[in-house]
Order: sequence, then structure tokens, then C-alpha cells
Amino acid sequence: MFEREILMIPGPTNVDPKVLRALSKPTTSHTSQEFANIFKEALNNLKKVFMTKSEVFVIAGSGTLALEMAIANIVEPGDKVLNTVSGFFGNYFVEISKVYGAVPRVLEMPWGKPVKSEQVKDALIEDDYKAVTVTHVETSTGVANHVREIGEVVKRYSDAFYIVDTVCSLGGMEVRVDEWGIDACASGSQKCIGVPPGLALIAVSQKTLEYLEKRKTSVGSWYGSFKNWLPVMRDPTKYFATPPVNMVYALHEALKLIIEEGLENRFRRHYVLAEAFRAAVNALNLNLIAEKESAANTVTAAYYPENIEDSQFRNEMEKHGIVVASTLGPLKGKGFRVGHMGNVNQNDVFATVTAIETTLKKLGYKAELGKGLAAAQEKLLSLEQSTLA
Ligand SMILES: Cc1ncc(COP(=O)(O)O)c(C=O)c1O
Repeated sequence: MFEREILMIPGPTNVDPKVLRALSKPTTSHTSQEFANIFKEALNNLKKVFMTKSEVFVIAGSGTLALEMAIANIVEPGDKVLNTVSGFFGNYFVEISKVYGAVPRVLEMPWGKPVKSEQVKDALIEDDYKAVTVTHVETSTGVANHVREIGEVVKRYSDAFYIVDTVCSLGGMEVRVDEWGIDACASGSQKCIGVPPGLALIAVSQKTLEYLEKRKTSVGSWYGSFKNWLPVMRDPTKYFATPPVNMVYALHEALKLIIEEGLENRFRRHYVLAEAFRAAVNALNLNLIAEKESAANTVTAAYYPENIEDSQFRNEMEKHGIVVASTLGPLKGKGFRVGHMGNVNQNDVFATVTAIETTLKKLGYKAELGKGLAAAQEKLLSLEQSTLA
């Protein structure tokens, strides 16, 4: 097995060596001032990434824990929740809502299509909901939902808490927690943030924090209770449960890199590389699963041409040192997904496109070698020129 491979799956993504080195620093006491200073700096930088002045939480666990904490703290048994679902991950909120005793109403969109804010509006006019959930980038299809627009509808037509999954967008696409009125924004470390899997990242509004004081029932999770963690997030020398010290070091390093690059530059890089990759896929005459207007800049999913078998395709790609992912749920076996986020650069995209072309050709697809690559190069150049102009 090569140790050097390009991870083009939609998370985990390739981790910068600086971040990896932070993981191997000597583990310090989790309540030492030295660790607290680093944790605090990481939390402050994380607020910048979430674009919030309210509270953020960094908890050992994956993105799913972040989703679960959002629901567990906001929803009480019997509450009605409007869950928008446009793919595999949207359904996580439905299942979690049920576990915490909520009554979900599922607003389901066909896979590949975004949530329609008109439909959210109609649902909110019809009934009262405690919370509305939206998945920003639906990783199963490569659709980016219109979080800002839906947030405006939620605020205008209800008092509901707005809960958003940004596991596959935070740090790669614009997420403005305060401006967009998000009450709980759930994310994870292993995608656009560029840290290995293992951290749940959550931003919580003042409205949510105030609500925690007046809930009728206690939160159905002890480890996942915002109130238990809040003193630690405000002063990391405090103890509730041991934080993952070395993962916090890694997050601290990764967030420094993000701030150094600048959020706007980072969003632009993701956009440009996504456009280049999509241009290549189109040039190869493959069909994208997400409709063009709602394509995410962090992940792209495409259908296979006829007679291309999923595991054969991905195994062949791995011989090029490039790892891509299969599609999920009802699309299993019908397509593949490529993550282009985090530390991704243009060489990664070019290498991936070249490997796709070669692999498809090898497996019998009539691909003209170099066509996808040229399209990606052209797109990249034209977008660079438009930036310079
Ligand atoms: C949009 C989205 N939500 C939730 C999750 C679950 O996150 P995790 O696997 O870190 O628990 C994922 C994972 O890929 C995701 O892409």
C-alpha cells in the first residue's frame, strides 16, 4: 500500500503535515493553562469560521454527534420538527429527532434537487414547528441547499429554531451563522477544516442558549448537553469530561491555516476547483447528479456511463493513488462521488481527472483522453483571468 495517496472522497480529506505534527505533540494536562490557551485560541478562530459572535463547542465525536447535540438540546419530547431531506444525510436529522421524542414532518425532495424554500414556507404557514432542519451540502448528491434563503423564510414565518448541518461545507463554502439566523450549526473536523475525523463542531445562537434555561424537560443526553460543556468552552481550565487534547492541538493548527489563507480566498479556491472539476466531468459526457444551479463546491457526484462497474472503477482509480467514493442509498452502484475540499489544490484535481479518463477508457468507455483535463485547465485559466481582471 502506498502511504502517499490523494484522498478525493468527501471526507476525510488530506491533512496538512503541520496538522499531523500537532497530533504528535506530547499530550498535556487537559486543564493546564498551556492547553487552555491553545483551546481558547482555537475556539476564537472557530467563531470566525462559523462567522458568529455567540458560542461554539468542540466535542470529541464525529459530525453525527454535532447533529445529535443540536437536536437533543433544542427539541423536547412531543415537539414538532420540520425536517427537510434531499438525500442520505438529511435523513439523519429525522432519525435523531425521533430518538429524542420529536414528531418529525419530513419535507422530502428528489435526490439531486435542493430544498425549495417555497415548500418550507407553505409548511410553516400550515403548522407550528419547534425546529426546522436543513443539510447545507447534501454529501450524497453534491447539492448545496440554499441555507440563507431558507433561513429568511424560517424567521419570517415562524419562531422555530433553525438547525443546519454544515458538515460538508464549513470552511469550504460560505456559512454565516449570525447573519443567516442559524440557531444550531453542526459540523465536523474531517472535511473542509482539514483535521482527521474525531471532532464535532457546533455553533449555537443566543436564542438557543437562553432556551436551555427555560426548557421544561432536561436534555436527554448528559455528555451532549450544551449546558454541561458551556463552562469548559468559556474557560478550558474547567472540567466536565476530558477533551481530546491532541485533536484540539490539530484543530488549532488547522484553523490557523484557514485564517492565514483567509475565508474569502478559501471559498474562492473551492469554487474555482469545483468549477474546473465539473467542467471536466461535463467534457467527458458524464451526467452530474446535482442540478447545475445547486451544485456544491465541496463535493461532486456523477453517474457512471453504461457498463461501468462501481468497485472496478474505484479499484482502478486507487491504482493511480486516488481514492474516490461510491454513491449512497438508492444511487448505490450508479455513480461516484469526488470530494474537492479542505487542502485540495489544482494538482489534485488534474490528477483526479486524468485518472478518471484513463480508468473509464480502460473499462471500455469511449473517452477521448485529455478532453476532461483540457476542460479543467481551460476553466481554471478563465476563472483566474476573471479574478485578475
Ligand atoms: C452532510 C453530512 N452530514 C452528516 C455527516 C455525518 O458525519 P460523520 O460521519 O462525521 O459522523 C456527514 C458525513 O459524511 C455528512 O456529509
